[in-house]
Amino acid sequence: MSDKFHKLKVSEIEKSTPDCSIISFDVPQELQGQFAFKQGQYLTLQAKINGEEVRRSYSLCSSPLDNEWKVGIKKIEEGKFSTFANEVLKVGEELEVMPPNGKFFVEVDKSKQKNYVAFAAGSGITPIFSIIKTHLLAEPNATFKLFYINPTVVSIILKEELEALKNQFMSRFEVFYFLTQEHRNVPLLKGRLSEEKMEIIFKTVCDVNQIDEYFSCGPEPMILMIRDFLLKKEVAKEKIHFELFTTAGSNVEAKKKVAQTFKGKVADVTILEGGKSMNFKVEQGSDNILDAALKNAADLPFACKGGVCCTCRAKLIEGNVEVLVNYGLEEEEIEQGYILTCQAIPTSEKIVVDFDS
Ligand SMILES: Cc1cc2nc3c(=O)[nH]c(=O)nc-3n(C[C@H](O)[C@H](O)[C@H](O)COP(=O)(O)OP(=O)(O)OC[C@H]3O[C@@H](n4cnc5c(N)ncnc54)[C@H](O)[C@@H]3O)c2cc1C
Ligand code: FES
Repeated sequence: MSDKFHKLKVSEIEKSTPDCSIISFDVPQELQGQFAFKQGQYLTLQAKINGEEVRRSYSLCSSPLDNEWKVGIKKIEEGKFSTFANEVLKVGEELEVMPPNGKFFVEVDKSKQKNYVAFAAGSGITPIFSIIKTHLLAEPNATFKLFYINPTVVSIILKEELEALKNQFMSRFEVFYFLTQEHRNVPLLKGRLSEEKMEIIFKTVCDVNQIDEYFSCGPEPMILMIRDFLLKKEVAKEKIHFELFTTAGSNVEAKKKVAQTFKGKVADVTILEGGKSMNFKVEQGSDNILDAALKNAADLPFACKGGVCCTCRAKLIEGNVEVLVNYGLEEEEIEQGYILTCQAIPTSEKIVVDFDS
């Protein structure tokens, strides 16, 4: 993957909360073009941890207007990369970093007066912060309302930065902090976000007819609840943008069913990537295309392996696959034949997948 990853030096590590580090990268002048990004995009980082190459995606929490590359990594219990980043990684060390990627943004439009609403929980604030800061800075009439859920005050990631933004854009930016494990005087702000609370929010502080774009990032059930709530309120789906960091996992039942149906049949798989082609055979209904290709020494792009980041996106040119989880792709892309190869199980004799398309 040497042509896709670049070694970047860690220039600063700050603690935003006791278990979340904000890591800044030094991007040399000659790589700044390749590392140019949109608010809400992410970097894929790779490090050797206890002898194993581990790669994970992290949203940029800086704004492209700052010309800074920062990610916020929250330590997860027993999490390989997040523990390494919070406890082992030091300033001056280098990480392998893939250029920015992702579709969790809308274009900045200085000529429009847009009203935005965002929902974030925990580390889900990272892309949301980048989005909020960028639109407030670049669009003189934009307004933003943020609903941000955390267990306690000390666990609020990027709190100082949010407060600074609030002071800078007092009339255009509002933050509502929800706490799940600490007392709040206002009942609405105590506990998780629920459909009932969404009803109250949209009766009191947000007018659904006045909002142009919605962003959400946090646990899957929260994101799905928000999406379904907004759809019920007849918000156009193009206005609802969300980023998942993780899913509940591949659909185990669907995987078992495909394995039983196609057991014993073989798929002949051709992978087109970087102008080259490779070919291998795999049992239908077993490994997904990405894993099968990696086992055959292919050098392919991937990050989350959970159907959310889209790094492994490719076009199915020939054959059939069963797709287990598919959050990352737009309906249009699916219609055009794009698949997430980490979630695509071969179910036909001949399969051709193009990563260059
Ligand atoms: C597009 C994208 C952007 C992301 N941006 C960020 C970001 O800005 N900040 C950030 O901290 N993370 C972010 N993530 C999540 C990140 O990529 C890792 O999944 C996370 O840090 C856990 O990796 P790990 O190696 O520490 O844990 P692993 O060793 O992979 O997992 C350890 C255990 O924790 C569970 N787990 C994994 N992720 C989570 C989670 N998020 N919450 C609860 N349990 C989990 C796993 O199921 C497993 O049981 C992002 C993910 C994606 C796909
Ligand atoms: S590797 Fe993230 S969607 Fe496949």
